[in-house]
Amino acid sequence: MVGELPVSALAERFGTPLYVYDRGAMERRLQAVRSALGPRVDVLFALKANPSVGVAQVFAEAGAGAEVASAGEIVVARHAGFEGHQMQFAGPGKHGPDLDHALSAGVTLNVESRGELEAIAAAAAAREVQASVALRVNPPASMSGSRMRMSGGSAKFGIDVDLLDEVARRATEMPSVRLVGLHTYAGTQTFDAEGWLRHARALLEAAAQVEAATGAPLERLNFGGGFGVPLFAKDTPFDLASAGEGLRALIAEDAREDRRYAVELGRFLVAEAGLFLTRVLYVKESQGTRHAILDGGMNQHAAATGVGSVFQRSFPVVKANDVRAEGEAGCRLGGPLCTPADAFPEVPGLPELVPGDLVAFLASGAYGLTFSNVLFLSHPLPAEVLVDGDRAVLLRERGAPEDALRGQRRIGEGAPA
Ligand SMILES: Cc1ncc(COP(=O)(O)O)c(C=O)c1O
Repeated sequence: MVGELPVSALAERFGTPLYVYDRGAMERRLQAVRSALGPRVDVLFALKANPSVGVAQVFAEAGAGAEVASAGEIVVARHAGFEGHQMQFAGPGKHGPDLDHALSAGVTLNVESRGELEAIAAAAAAREVQASVALRVNPPASMSGSRMRMSGGSAKFGIDVDLLDEVARRATEMPSVRLVGLHTYAGTQTFDAEGWLRHARALLEAAAQVEAATGAPLERLNFGGGFGVPLFAKDTPFDLASAGEGLRALIAEDAREDRRYAVELGRFLVAEAGLFLTRVLYVKESQGTRHAILDGGMNQHAAATGVGSVFQRSFPVVKANDVRAEGEAGCRLGGPLCTPADAFPEVPGLPELVPGDLVAFLASGAYGLTFSNVLFLSHPLPAEVLVDGDRAVLLRERGAPEDALRGQRRIGEGAPA
């Protein structure tokens, strides 16, 4: 079931492969984060985890903010109902259309380098506006317990702590820039709440250092995101309660009533609210091993095939039309693409499968379609639906084979196909 609807009914109505998201699960997760972190902390939804406009709309309607990483994500976020002042924009290569969209909507830009600060100031001056900026700090230590570390040591992200004062002073001298705060983001899939809190503390220390250097108050501190979601056998849930308790204590210690704080979470808000639903097309035996060929594969859910992971481990997978089925299939799952890379890691305990069965990849609401190499082999995009209690609404139409020509032209042809 997703919400009050059986996935088999969703597969009948919308076809497969299909992404299904549960509105109630997203709202409950947002509420849990807010209750744990307290009223001083704004929760921003990181659209990179799931840039489906209907998913972003759920968070906009629940009063969250948005973390965006491209002009396209600003467009999606605005369409979903976010206003520019609710958005913060990180990413080490912001330029051209990114700056145009951010400046015209009043989005806060998280600056990743001195060069980028100069580009933002020039773009804002040319538009005769003042850019709201925060400096992204590259903390000296990397994040312990994080599966993909994005800070500590030499990094393309953020400004090293020893360069921070100089860049901050420069920002406060620029008439087309207003320095509003600091930002950090140290890594994704973090399971160590203590490690996460050490980074939060380091950001408070960096803020004190920058304020001393510039004499200007910093109104906003964004501690980043990365709260982990258990996907594999030995993963333990992220301890939201201790992270919340620790963050409230740090904020109390900071003793700054004039300050707002934020976190920007993607995976934690949406991963477990979504699943990727596929149907078994064929089951065959080859040299003593059974293979089930699914109608969706790495081109639609790359992360489930292990793309981006060092170790090949299976996502949680269930036979979705008969979850009580017993017996072990001893069967390998593969997608429809003609590459050996389009295979899913072995799923322990998966029951016998026959053609027509439904196979659901759970915890797939984050970094699913958006992380996938959707052009590979020119298959149509899967549909995406949102379940709200006993209702399902289509968020993204299933693609068509003709989409493979979208925007392309033959040599010598004037207009796009
Ligand atoms: C700057 C930034 N913010 C937020 C996120 C969201 O992280 P997560 O989905 O792990 O919470 C990411 C992910 O890479 C990121 O790079």
